[in-house]
Amino acid sequence: MNFSRSQFPEGFDFGVSTSSYQIEGHDFGGAGPTHWDTFAATPGNVVRAEHGGRACDHYHRYREDLDLVAAGGFDVYRFSTSWARVLPEGTGQVNAEGLDFYDRLVDAMLERGLKPAATLYHWEMPSALADRGGWMNRDVASWFAEFTEVITDRLGDRLWSVAPINEPWCVGWMSHFLGHHAPGLRDIRATARAMHHVLLAHGRSIEVMRGKGQENLGAVFNFEWAEPADDSPEAARAAQTFDGYLNRFFVEGVFRGRYPDSVLEGFAPHLPENYQDDFPLITQKLDWCGLNYYTRKLCAPTDGAWPHQTEVEGPLPKTLMGWEIYPEGLYQSLKRLHEYAGDIPLYITENGLASPDVVKDGAVDDQPRIDYLEAHFAAARRAIDEGVPLAGYFVWSLMDNYEWALGYEKRFGLVHVDFDSLERTPKASYHALKRALA
Ligand code: FCB
Repeated sequence: MNFSRSQFPEGFDFGVSTSSYQIEGHDFGGAGPTHWDTFAATPGNVVRAEHGGRACDHYHRYREDLDLVAAGGFDVYRFSTSWARVLPEGTGQVNAEGLDFYDRLVDAMLERGLKPAATLYHWEMPSALADRGGWMNRDVASWFAEFTEVITDRLGDRLWSVAPINEPWCVGWMSHFLGHHAPGLRDIRATARAMHHVLLAHGRSIEVMRGKGQENLGAVFNFEWAEPADDSPEAARAAQTFDGYLNRFFVEGVFRGRYPDSVLEGFAPHLPENYQDDFPLITQKLDWCGLNYYTRKLCAPTDGAWPHQTEVEGPLPKTLMGWEIYPEGLYQSLKRLHEYAGDIPLYITENGLASPDVVKDGAVDDQPRIDYLEAHFAAARRAIDEGVPLAGYFVWSLMDNYEWALGYEKRFGLVHVDFDSLERTPKASYHALKRALA
């Protein structure tokens, strides 16, 4: 790998990211049902109706998994806490076994010299709360505040960093407008309200943690770099709309206390009444900001209802997800995020690719992943050289896992997982990174 730790600033943190539902095995340890379990159980939503019931069985194998993180030379382990594992009904009674699991998990990170970077919500809404409207219900902010409190009280003293919610766009738009993720809705009013409530819940959660003296609080946004599919003014406008509802809505909300006009054009009649009154809570100061970046999108105009826009296939080489490989977009996104976030440290909290990796003679040759990472490290370097305060880079993902609606076949891991035997096999990319980080 044409990369080494020494090319990055002193103290720069390298890490790997995972999330609870994708790896733990939701059937274990008394977790309550989530909207992902029922979404997956409904035909047509998830490839082969696969679910996270067992996943990588990280619930029982976390020590072995954290050994791999530590042996790889990483500094940070970014993980998430499952709401329904800790509070099976979403509020009220705590599942002691679930909370104990995260307690042991965090201790196991510290024992291995890893910094625990927690995300409180990476998409498993407890069914009991989904029944009450989930993200569409304004009360979700209070429910989430209660969950935040339970986690902070038990783990807060040992967490290195905390972000309330992973990728608000996916929680909001992808799940309520596109219907690709749980709860699988396709409704603009639901979307507008969910997107606002996600930020409201973020704000309440930050407020709770600040109140308890918790430090190093941030937010994690996903960006896709938006470009027009051709030179027409219509395509330019389509890209602007996409950029508005995917990228700018959340960072303008959190860092500027407003929503972009290009999104209000579609959302205005559907947002909660007096939503502007929530901005003081939403814009509370953050200590860092995370960017999840994978690809760009080419945007074209469409007829019909707002957003009058669609995405078209681009010409660049693609990953197994069908996503174009576009490191330039990482550089651009970092510059953009820096403009919004100001001088707080930025982290790339996710970046990586899916490839059809197979084990052959005990090894996995995943050269495309090595190439992808190298190119994105270079883009990150370029941003740093131009003054972006990038402080860390976390690869998605430690190991192959449940890739949501696409099931188990999209392999994002540095470590291969055999989903029958559950055997872990570090891929060539893992070994290359390990050498580079040593
Ligand atoms: C991100 C998600 C993560 C994983 C990657 C591929 O949007 O945060 O859980 O699915 O994409």
